[in-house]
Amino acid sequence: MKGIILAGGQGTRLYPLTVSVSKQILPVFDKPMIYYPLSVLMLADIREVLIISSPEHIDLYRQLFGAGERLGLSIKYAVQDRPAGVAHAFVVGADFAGHDPCALIFGDNFLYGHGLTAILQRASQLRRGGLVFAYYVSDPTRYGVVEFDAAGSAISIEEKPQNPKSNYAIIGLYFYDGEVVDIVRGLKPSARGELEITDVNNEYLRRRQLRVEVLGRGFAWLDTGTHESLLEASDFVQTIEHRQGLKVGCVEEIAYRKGYIGAEQLLRIANYSTDNAYCLYLKHLVEQSGPTF
Ligand code: G1P
Repeated sequence: MKGIILAGGQGTRLYPLTVSVSKQILPVFDKPMIYYPLSVLMLADIREVLIISSPEHIDLYRQLFGAGERLGLSIKYAVQDRPAGVAHAFVVGADFAGHDPCALIFGDNFLYGHGLTAILQRASQLRRGGLVFAYYVSDPTRYGVVEFDAAGSAISIEEKPQNPKSNYAIIGLYFYDGEVVDIVRGLKPSARGELEITDVNNEYLRRRQLRVEVLGRGFAWLDTGTHESLLEASDFVQTIEHRQGLKVGCVEEIAYRKGYIGAEQLLRIANYSTDNAYCLYLKHLVEQSGPTF
């Protein structure tokens, strides 16, 4: 399975933070926001990644990750020159995805919870249909909202409904089979002029090939789109990292633990600075023995 990270948008709700910087580069505590969705793809065993951003910001990501070899990944880049909708990622990424199964995640997606790795690994086994995740939120009108029947099967998904049929929002992480590019090619822009990911999901639903998995209340799916929510996400990460002494969304650690890079490469990254807690953490990983679950 391949993976696309969509890191476009102007981030206008974060003005003036985003005047000269791309939103998904902004810090969530001790790392750039995009580290978190990249870590989600890596935990799903996805090593071929395409990052999509705007023409003015794409080089920031290139600078951050290069071709990905530093992390034992292959990272490519593509430009979306106008905000044309979430599903448009599969137009921009059509050559990258080809007819392979492909995941899509938003560059500002923050997802955390016990058992997430197992869920992601199962998800990336998908070879037919689509798999999306629903999460209970207080403000469903802002999202794609799923309606379930009495047996718990999804029967409809509505984009930003005024009268939502449930409180379950579809989160910004999607797994699709090799049909997705063709499905997106057949879509027409919505009333807001965008290619809607909800229309993709409804097409899979129509084919009876969409699985909607609920992420329970033990998961955190956080917003990072406003000044307050950005700070809250930072506080959340800081609280957990301080308590455990283990990092959240540390892509270098994941690459090392998965064997994508060896100790030598991890130490090379850690040697970036000698008086930096992040680098020290990476250095300690090499010295540590015993399992971490
Ligand atoms: C998009 C999708 C929506 C989904 C949401 C998740 O909304 O269209 O279905 O629930 O992301 O964050 P947008 O960010 O385009 O408003």
